[in-house]
Amino acid sequence: MSDKSLVHSVYDGIEEHDNHLPNWWLFILWTSIVFSVGYWFWFHIAEAGPGQLDEYAAETAEVAKRAADNTPVSDDMLLALAQDPASLDSGKQVFQANCAACHGAQGQGLIGPNLTDANWLHGGAPMAIHRVVAEGVVAKGMPAWERTLGAERVKAVTAYLLTLKGTNAPGGKAPQGEPEQP
Ligand code: HEC
Repeated sequence: MSDKSLVHSVYDGIEEHDNHLPNWWLFILWTSIVFSVGYWFWFHIAEAGPGQLDEYAAETAEVAKRAADNTPVSDDMLLALAQDPASLDSGKQVFQANCAACHGAQGQGLIGPNLTDANWLHGGAPMAIHRVVAEGVVAKGMPAWERTLGAERVKAVTAYLLTLKGTNAPGGKAPQGEPEQP
């Protein structure tokens, strides 16, 4: 600071020095410039990363999906799901992965009852099936699935069961329970 050769001007006894900018400061300056070029290229030219609008759209979709997940289940909703190929696909996968071991790959029954005949221990209405799947019959060896699978997959697998209903899969276990009341 006291190096007179670097004094740029003096005014009212105040010296203006012509110091070199500190290296840490220059480092931040140049890094920011390089970063900003990269950022601009990545997000605005190449559009390789999601922009603010994309992120906003993704969040909105996520919120809408969560709202849909929370719509209360009903007979009508489950019957509608049973017409939806995407739900049935996912329901079938859930069934093969979690239920087939006890209910057979076709739902024909094994340790658990036949799900393809006309008889039901706990009722064959969509909401009755949904309730058994969600809450289980733990004392009789049917696990409760809502907590493990989540609401969405319980709905999907219930919808899938509605399509198995009455298919009377070959080699099925003998009927248990009462015929479903129309
Ligand atoms: C550990 C074996 C086991 C697994 C795994 C299992 N269940 Fe069951 N399930 C049973 C048994 C046992 C019953 C009979 C309960 C009773 O006697 O009340 C049953 C009953 C049911 C019923 C009621 C049938 C009726 O006649 O009312 C439905 C519906 C059902 N299970 C669906 C499922 C679905 C869907 C899954 C997979 C997400 C599944 N189960 C996984 C053993 C199992």
